[in-house]
Amino acid sequence: MKQLEGKTALVTGASRGIGRAISLALAAAGAKVLVHYGRSVEEAESLVEAIRKDGGEAESLGADLSAPESAGAIAERVRQLVGAKLDVLVLNAGVSKAATLAAYSTADLDTLFETNVRGPFFLVQQLVSLLGEGSNIIAVTSVVAREVVGKPGVENPSIMAYASTKGALETLVKYWAAMLGPSGVRVNAVAPGVIDTDMSNFTKTEAGRETALAMQALKRIGKPEDVADVVAFLASDAARWITGASIPVDGGSKL
Ligand SMILES: NC(=O)c1ccc[n+]([C@@H]2O[C@H](COP(=O)([O-])OP(=O)(O)OC[C@H]3O[C@@H](n4cnc5c(N)ncnc54)[C@H](OP(=O)(O)O)[C@@H]3O)[C@@H](O)[C@H]2O)c1
Repeated sequence: MKQLEGKTALVTGASRGIGRAISLALAAAGAKVLVHYGRSVEEAESLVEAIRKDGGEAESLGADLSAPESAGAIAERVRQLVGAKLDVLVLNAGVSKAATLAAYSTADLDTLFETNVRGPFFLVQQLVSLLGEGSNIIAVTSVVAREVVGKPGVENPSIMAYASTKGALETLVKYWAAMLGPSGVRVNAVAPGVIDTDMSNFTKTEAGRETALAMQALKRIGKPEDVADVVAFLASDAARWITGASIPVDGGSKL
């Protein structure tokens, strides 16, 4: 029997990149996967098709996570699709931005926090009644929640605002783990380093690639599957005694 046979999983931001790989890994482990997307409807539909073609079960659901009403709407749809119990919730959707200190606008901060922190916060609030004994939540944070990356300097662009959203999410992971542990619900984070997706397009230049490799012990750029395999492990009963943790998945970054 597969590790997640008979289980249901919602993956946010599943249309592309890391979320897509997580959905495929959870489906391969036997879970029915709810593929959440924002704008990339065609990519989400083709992922659902790919999972079904491989004999798995999947449904898509779209919602802009930065919109205040999205959490309630997603929860309603999840209830229609899975009934009373959600086994795995993967909080993966996110946006990033690099800018100099002077260039950040209030709109930038709003977008980053609405999508990366407020969205997951209210999604957990709205879905908590579907989580029960054996369910678990996995948040995709980042190595930058704990480590400063890039060149220091006021004139240099940095991802500090994005990094602070991931720090906030790691804090929530600990609170959720403490709060939901007595109900048998585990909550963990995976903290990726640089992973080859649209978000990390700076690695497509030689200079960007060298910067990324210079901070890692293992000398290649991470793949979405490197993160997905760890998420599938955390989602499974093999990780039954792990909660409140943040697992680095970063090829040994900033050691
Ligand atoms: N790539 C890296 O190097 C790296 C490193 C550390 C952590 N992470 C984290 O890993 C997660 C996935 O990143 P990725 O690299 O796979 O990024 P990506 O390729 O840019 O994909 C981002 C995903 O998030 C969804 N999304 C973004 N804003 C949304 C919104 N407002 N509403 C709904 N969905 C939204 C996108 O959906 P649509 O396209 O459908 O709109 C897409 O599926 C993020 O939380 C990111 O911060 C990435």
